[in-house]
Amino acid sequence: MKLRHLARRFFGALRPGPPARPDLEWVAGVLSPAELTLWNRMPNHDRRHSAAVARRVDAMLDGTAQAGDRRWLAAALLHDVGKLDSGFGVPGRVAATVTAAAAGRDTARSWVARRGLRRRIGLYVEHPRLGADMIRVAGGTEEAAAWAAAHHTPDRWPTLPVPRVVVDALVAADDD
Ligand SMILES: [Fe+2]
Ligand SMILES: [Fe+2]
Repeated sequence: MKLRHLARRFFGALRPGPPARPDLEWVAGVLSPAELTLWNRMPNHDRRHSAAVARRVDAMLDGTAQAGDRRWLAAALLHDVGKLDSGFGVPGRVAATVTAAAAGRDTARSWVARRGLRRRIGLYVEHPRLGADMIRVAGGTEEAAAWAAAHHTPDRWPTLPVPRVVVDALVAADDD
C-alpha cells in the first residue's frame, strides 16, 4: 500500500492543535451529545481529519436528496473512532499498517487475543468493528455504526443502510 499515502498521513498528522473553532462548532451542531463525547475522545489529528472528511461529504451531497442529513455527516465524523483502542499515535499506526500487511490481515486480526504490541496491532486492524461497537454503545446513529464497520470493506457497501450516493461521497471525501 502506497508509501506516498502513508507519508502524507504521517506528515499531515504532525501539524499540531485541535480543529479550527468553526469546525468544532459545526461538528457540535451535527453530532448528538453522546456522539460528540465520543468524537472528542479522538486525538487532534483524527478530529481534524474527520471534520475535513465530513465537510467534503456535506459539500458533495449538496443538491442531492441526501443533503443536510446529519446521519451521513455523523458517519463521516466517526468512521475511524475505533482507532482509539489501539492507543497508537501516528508513527505507531504506520508501523502497525506495515506490520499487519506483512503478516496478513487474518493473522494480524488474531493478535487481538495476544498481549502487548501484537494485541495493539490487532486492535488497530480491527478498528472498523471496534468503532462500530463504540458508536452503538454510546447510543450513536446506527448508520454511523454501520459505516464504521464497513468503511474498509467494499463488498459490504451494497448491503449497508446507507444510500449509494452517500457511500460514494464518504469514500471520495476520505483521503486516507
Ligand atoms: Fe479506517
Ligand atoms: Fe479516514
